[in-house]
Amino acid sequence: MTERTPTSSGFFITREAPIDAANPVPTPSSPPPDILRVAYAELVVTDLAASREFYVDVLGLVVTEEDQDAVYLRTLEEFIHHNLVIRRGPVAALAALSYRVRTPEDLDRAEAFYIELGCRVERRASGFTKGIGDSVRVVDPLGFPYEFFHEVQHVERLTWRYDLYTPGALVRIDHFNQVTPDVPRAVAYMEDLGFRVTEDIQDEAGTTYAAWMRRKPTVHDTALTGGDGPRMHHVAFATHEKHNIIAICDKLGALRMSDVIERGPGRHGVSNAFYLYLRDPDGHRVEIYTQDYYTGDPDNPVVTWDVHDNQRRDWWGNPVVPSWYTDASLVLDLDGNPQPLTTRTDDSELEVTIGADGFSYTRKDDTEHGFKLGAQL
Ligand SMILES: [Fe+2]
Repeated sequence: MTERTPTSSGFFITREAPIDAANPVPTPSSPPPDILRVAYAELVVTDLAASREFYVDVLGLVVTEEDQDAVYLRTLEEFIHHNLVIRRGPVAALAALSYRVRTPEDLDRAEAFYIELGCRVERRASGFTKGIGDSVRVVDPLGFPYEFFHEVQHVERLTWRYDLYTPGALVRIDHFNQVTPDVPRAVAYMEDLGFRVTEDIQDEAGTTYAAWMRRKPTVHDTALTGGDGPRMHHVAFATHEKHNIIAICDKLGALRMSDVIERGPGRHGVSNAFYLYLRDPDGHRVEIYTQDYYTGDPDNPVVTWDVHDNQRRDWWGNPVVPSWYTDASLVLDLDGNPQPLTTRTDDSELEVTIGADGFSYTRKDDTEHGFKLGAQL
């Protein structure tokens, strides 16, 4: 067990998160692909025009290319073809979470890695997704549609096009967030895939409620959130600064669209980022996120939060709305069929922190005055 060191901010740090999987996915003998970073998500939407209006007219993503069935969108600082595909379909769902790998040979590694795990694996030829070269698509051991690619069409990086910036400009894709029932099992598999834990939420009994895992040197490329899964919790895009997030809220108010704001704006405890959660016309959750911290050293301290710490998910102690815990998007298999859900059997973060049976504190051991709003929900 790695020693936990308390910090003056109220959480613990360790050298490596002590998360032990009781039911681990076997570790393949094949090496994992060298993943560079989160690249894009593909969402199936039921009303393409409504979704285009939300992502382009309201949030300001840049249209790289579009046709009758899909719109390929990118952030202002992106140089690859897209960071988000919205595709017309019968059921709102996640079709793919896609990562860029370092070399074309990493596609062979991905294929061998997942074949050894007994997963369904498909090679898809260049152009199967517009702008993307040869790729490997799998249904991973957690049931998620993962994609890996290297070759990609470059497009203009609009970083210097200040004439195109809006007050709420989205500049990068930052991360995915996946709902999965057994977080330790998911963490162990993702570590085999080459990811590292940067932060997690646990309780004193050792239950793990969520973990944040990275390839690029930020807090995460994806987070694993405990719940019935596989489901997609959200896709996150970054702004440069906090005021950009405030501007998005002001714009949504001006458009009489405040009802798409689900949670925030606020400051996370986990990741330290400023955040805002929105729901798109199909209910897919989008996070706007900015200003987390550098994590690239091999001995980056892992932060562990107590699930009862009322500042873990909102540093100002504001309550997490129940829909944020309960709602998430279906995910599809490689044929486009929704994946069945497995129920979480470990404790629920919502139930242990909200409502009559849950508790949380602002100052540990100050139970008389240490509560805020969580008890009212
Ligand atoms: Fe997030």
